[in-house]
Amino acid sequence: MTSPSQYTIRPAELSDVPAMAALSADGFKTDRNTMVKAMGADPYDHKATMESLLPGWIALDPATRGWTVVAVENTTGEVAGWVSWGRAGYVPRTASAPTIPVDHDELERQAQAEPDPLVRLNKLSSANFRRWMDTKLMPPASGKERCIYVSSISVAPAHQGRGVGRLLAQNGTAEADKDGVDIWVHGSEAAGRLFPKLGWRQIGEYDIDLDEYAIGPPPNGEAKWGHYMFRYMMYTPNLSKA
Ligand SMILES: CC(C)(COP(=O)(O)OP(=O)(O)OC[C@H]1O[C@@H](n2cnc3c(N)ncnc32)[C@H](O)[C@@H]1OP(=O)(O)O)[C@@H](O)C(=O)NCCC(=O)NCCS
Repeated sequence: MTSPSQYTIRPAELSDVPAMAALSADGFKTDRNTMVKAMGADPYDHKATMESLLPGWIALDPATRGWTVVAVENTTGEVAGWVSWGRAGYVPRTASAPTIPVDHDELERQAQAEPDPLVRLNKLSSANFRRWMDTKLMPPASGKERCIYVSSISVAPAHQGRGVGRLLAQNGTAEADKDGVDIWVHGSEAAGRLFPKLGWRQIGEYDIDLDEYAIGPPPNGEAKWGHYMFRYMMYTPNLSKA
């Protein structure tokens, strides 16, 4: 087993984006929800999505909006993994950007009525995510609006199981401890195995029967895609470290 000290965390740079997008696409290749979304006429392309999102995440003001770091292997300089953190509620909302209340039931009804199964899957997952954000993760006027969240985290398959995910997660929890704020994540199945090991608690889940949406057969001659569970998980700050 390689010790985590063989990796160093540093701020991500724009020149890291191609490597970050590529390793994230590799990391999600076996994620069954991503595999189902990547089918069809307008398939979800994880690499292209990351290439378009990462420059914006890297450019955020770290003190108020969020930050992105990479874990670099010390000997080779290779980018082994990365995480983007978002900050919510660190700057007051301006009158020009008021909170618009969302009718979550209506959003879900609209998603349910979508005839294309893959669009329906996307819209239902988004509606569920939105409901959780607005009612549980950071509801308005709850005192939880000031928080940190995981925008995305990935470790290259060749570097998984060596403590890189733990190192990346600790980069955010150290900040949460300093600021006295919670961190939440809308986690994949792999994330559901990582974060509870690091003391995050699961506060909710979203169970998807992938066979309701998949428009192609599962891999490796398997009979079914099976169920996929998104997990909403929360880290509570350790105030003694503030
Ligand atoms: C989730 C992910 C970031 C974990 O990274 P990692 O570098 O392999 O994690 P670590 O080696 O630091 O693991 C830390 C702990 O979590 C456990 N863990 C992490 N991933 C696990 C998995 N898939 N299955 C079982 N345990 C796992 C490890 O066993 C370890 O526990 P231990 O210290 O008691 O042995 C990585 O699997 C990944 O990138 N997956 C694909 C992308 C993804 O799903 N990202 C999450 C989006 S929300």
